[in-house]
Amino acid sequence: MKVIYPGSFDPITIGHLDIIKRLDQMFDEVVVAILINEAKHSLFPIKERKQLIEEEIKENKLKNVKVKTFEGLLVDFAKKENSKTIVRGIRAVTDYEYEINIAQFNANLYPGLETIFLLSDPKFSFISSSGIRELASFSGDVSKFVSKNVKKAIYEKNKLGGK
Ligand code: PNS
Repeated sequence: MKVIYPGSFDPITIGHLDIIKRLDQMFDEVVVAILINEAKHSLFPIKERKQLIEEEIKENKLKNVKVKTFEGLLVDFAKKENSKTIVRGIRAVTDYEYEINIAQFNANLYPGLETIFLLSDPKFSFISSSGIRELASFSGDVSKFVSKNVKKAIYEKNKLGGK
């Protein structure tokens, strides 16, 4: 079975990575799908986000995971990929409220499409890419929330020199 794990991943956090590792154990094919959204101000360009995720896949020897990018509607990407299963991580009730709306839109746009929710490990439930971006913008220490590679990329981007 092939599933799609979509998101912005700007940047990938250890919370995302935990979900990806769990998906790798559960499914034959996992497509991490990065949304190309030019309108949204991002820390990392798409190419770098993809590279960072690919480094994690390699380092963690995840055999069933690929990274792709998509533009436009997620349902169109799912059709193109021949998959009817989307996975989203849920950290808190606020995520759930937001996600049910999108899941129901998607199921209406593409009948038969299922969205599977994976509960985040409680130890990662407060971690968000937006929190990481904010922390990084004030030169905060991101080491507990992202991998070494991502930390390095953030510090290089901020021209702070790695620590
Ligand atoms: O990591 P994010 O930013 O929470 O991911 C959100 C994402 C990319 C999964 C969602 O915004 C998305 O699927 N966008 C593509 C447009 C779309 O299909 N929207 C749903 C129909 S209302």
